[in-house]
Amino acid sequence: MSPVAQTGPAPQAQVRSPSAAAERPASTTPATPAATRTIVAFCCRECAYAAADASANARTALPATVRLVLMPCTGRVSPLHLLEALAGGADGAMVAGCLEGECHYREGNFNAIDRVLFVQRLLDSVGVEPERVRMFTMSAGEPPKFVAAVREMDRTIGALPPLPRS
Ligand code: FES
Repeated sequence: MSPVAQTGPAPQAQVRSPSAAAERPASTTPATPAATRTIVAFCCRECAYAAADASANARTALPATVRLVLMPCTGRVSPLHLLEALAGGADGAMVAGCLEGECHYREGNFNAIDRVLFVQRLLDSVGVEPERVRMFTMSAGEPPKFVAAVREMDRTIGALPPLPRS
């Protein structure tokens, strides 16, 4: 079964704690309901996507809010991919790749971490919660970690108000 047809999560290498968001005044806007929220997950083929596939084969339920995008390596994920996902209607975007030091293209995931940090700073600078974009790492043999990452991302985004589109 293709992992694209499913949804799920397991967090791990969170690049940045949402400290700036913690300083932001509490919103009076209700959280984003699951029926309307969407999270785009850019997954490295070698690890995260393989873990997603394994979790799908194990029939592990993933949040229906998550849309997987197969990438050859997280090093191919640019800041524009993340920003376009948000601009295109997603409430959050996550990058899931190999464990640090285990990228099949040597340093692709380190580049991805830098780009996620860049986008988080950019979002924060314009008043958007930086935790809408996050990085996770895992091995192909850790489907539960992938599932936990997706579920954590879904919880995080679900607690935030809908992303303003105007
Ligand atoms: Fe997986 Fe580079 S090959 S992050």
